[in-house]
Amino acid sequence: MSCGIVAYVGPRKALPVIFDTLKRLEYRGYDSAGVALLVGKEIFLAKQKGKIKDLEERLKDEDIPSKMGIGHTRWATHGRPSDFNAHPHLDCSGKIAVVHNGIIENYNELREELKAKGHNFRSETDTEVIPHLLEEYYQGDPLQALQKAVSRLQGSYAVAAIFAGVDKVFFARKDSPLIIGVGEGENFLASDIPAVLPYTKKVIVLEDGDTGFISESEYVIFQGDKRIERKIMEVPWDQQAAERGGFEHFMIKEILEQDQSIRDTLRQRLHEDGDIDLSEELAPLADKLPNLRRLFIVACGTAYYAGMAGKYFIESILGIPVEIDIASEFRYRAVPIMEGDWLILVSQSGETADTLAALRDMKQKGVPTIGIVNAVGSSIARESDVTLYTRAGPEICVASTKAYTAQVTVFYLLGLYLAKVLKGMDVRPYGQELLTIPHKVSQVLAKREEVEKMAEELYKERDFFFIGRGMDWGVALEGALKLKEISYLRAEAFAAGELKHGPLALIYDGVPVVAVVTQEALRDKMISNIEEVWARGARVIGVLREGDPLQESLAMSFTIPNTIDYFTSPLAVIPLQMLAYYISRKLGREIDQPRNLAKSVTVE
Ligand code: G6P
Repeated sequence: MSCGIVAYVGPRKALPVIFDTLKRLEYRGYDSAGVALLVGKEIFLAKQKGKIKDLEERLKDEDIPSKMGIGHTRWATHGRPSDFNAHPHLDCSGKIAVVHNGIIENYNELREELKAKGHNFRSETDTEVIPHLLEEYYQGDPLQALQKAVSRLQGSYAVAAIFAGVDKVFFARKDSPLIIGVGEGENFLASDIPAVLPYTKKVIVLEDGDTGFISESEYVIFQGDKRIERKIMEVPWDQQAAERGGFEHFMIKEILEQDQSIRDTLRQRLHEDGDIDLSEELAPLADKLPNLRRLFIVACGTAYYAGMAGKYFIESILGIPVEIDIASEFRYRAVPIMEGDWLILVSQSGETADTLAALRDMKQKGVPTIGIVNAVGSSIARESDVTLYTRAGPEICVASTKAYTAQVTVFYLLGLYLAKVLKGMDVRPYGQELLTIPHKVSQVLAKREEVEKMAEELYKERDFFFIGRGMDWGVALEGALKLKEISYLRAEAFAAGELKHGPLALIYDGVPVVAVVTQEALRDKMISNIEEVWARGARVIGVLREGDPLQESLAMSFTIPNTIDYFTSPLAVIPLQMLAYYISRKLGREIDQPRNLAKSVTVE
C-alpha cells in the first residue's frame, strides 16, 4: 500500500533529515507518522496519529544525538490510524525497529506462531510480525536475520530495519517501491525518488528480492544469497517533477498506476484459484446477509459512475434489484425503505457531504451500510457498518481516475462474493478472469501514444458526445465527465438508445462522437446507433474490443484486450481518461487543479 518509508545514515543530525525526506513522501499517506533513531546502544522511538508536522512539532525541543534512523508516513491498511498502529514497530526487547510499506498476507498465521513463542504484540498491524520475526532469527548478523524473516513473508513489502548498537540500516523489497539515495559520505533509503533529491541525484532503484544495508560509507545489495551490483541512475528531474514521479501532471501518473491499484484492491480478497473471500470484511453484517433483498448505491461524481457499473453487474450476477442515486438527490427524495434494503456509499475521499448525509439518514433508519472508500479513517469509512477499501493510494489530481477503476473492482468482488454466499454460485471462473484484468490494464496503458495522436486530431473541436449501452453507458458518462472537467469543452454522454429522443438534434457535420462498444451482447444495437450519428455526418471514434471489424469503418478507434462483458469497464475507461488528459494538455489547461472544482466536497 501507499505508505512512505525513509532511512538516513551519515554525518548529519538524523532527525531533521528524516522529517525533511519524509515530508516529500506525504502524498503517499498521511494518517500517522513515526521515527526510530539509533542513539548508541539504544533506539529512540516516537510515533503518533496525524501528520508529520504534528510529530515534528512535538519533538522540536529535543536534541537527539543520532546520525542514523528510519521514518514512516502511513496510509492505513491493517488497523485504523492510531498512535499504536503508527510505524516504526519494535520487537519485544525494543532493540529492533522496523518500518514497512506493503501488505503482509500471511500475518495472521505468523502472529499466532510468534505469540505461541511468547512474543508480545502491541498493534493491530500486519507489519508488527516483522520485528518479532527479526528478534526470533537474530543471532548477531542482522542481514541474515532479515533475509530469513522476509523468506517467511507472503505479500508485498519494502522494509527498513535498525538494530540497537549497529550503525547500518537494513532493507528488503518485494512488490513495493524502494530506492537507495547514494550520497557523499551518507546514504538514504526511500519509497520514492523525490524524498532524497535535495541531498543527492544519484539513486539505485532496488528490485524484487533485493536485500542489503546502507552505512555511512557504503551500500551492499544481495539478490538471494549472492552479492550484486545495481546501476546508479542520475535523476534529471527537478523537485516538483519528481513528486509526480517525473511526470508532467499527477493525472497521468495516476492513470498509469491503475494496473497496480487494481492489483492492490484485489489482493487477499481474490485468491489464485479464482475464489473470492470478503467474509472477514463483511463480518459485522454477516447475520443480516440472508435478509438482503435490495441494494441502493449512493454517491457523487465519478464515484456515482463507478456505482453504475456496480448496479449493472450486481443485478445481473445476483438477480436482486439495485437502485442507484446521486447523493444530493437521494437525501431529499422520499425513499420508501423496506425490510432487506441495504445501502452502499461510494466515495474516494470518504468526506463528501451529501454522501455522508445519506449514510447518516439511512443508518438512523436501521439500514445496513457498506462504504466503498479510498481514504482510510475518513468519516464514511468510520461510520459505515462495513468498509470495503479501494486500495488506490492517495489521489492528488482533482479529476478522479485510479479511484474509479478501484471502485469498479470492489463492486466486482462484492457482487461475486454475494453471489457465492447467497446463491451458492461457483464464482471461480469469474474470479479467474478478474485475475487477468491488471495485466490487461497494463496492456491498455502501454498504448497511450495512440490516444495522444487521437488527441492531436481532436483538440480543436468544441463539442464532444459519448455514447454507450449497458455497462458502456456508465463508461461513456465517466469519459464525458473527465473531458469536461479538465478541458472545459462541452462533453455530454447519452445512453445510445436515447439518441433519437433528442440528442440527435445536436449532431452536426464533423462533430466527434465517442462510441464505447465493448458489450458483445449489445454490439448490434450499438452499430445501429453509430449509423444514426454517421448519417448526420458525425466523426465516430470507437472504443472497441480487439479484433472487432468495426474498427475498419471508423475514423479512429482504440481497442482493448478481450474479456467478458462484465469486466470491460476498467479497460474501456482508460483511453477516455487519457483522451481527456491529452486534449487538455494540448489546450494548456491546469490539469491537476481544474477551475471551480475541488477534490473533496465537504459542503452541500
Ligand atoms: C468531487 C471530485 C470528484 C469526485 C466527487 C465525489 O467532485 O472532484 O472527482 O468524484 O467529488 O467525491 P468522493 O470523494 O465522494 O468520491
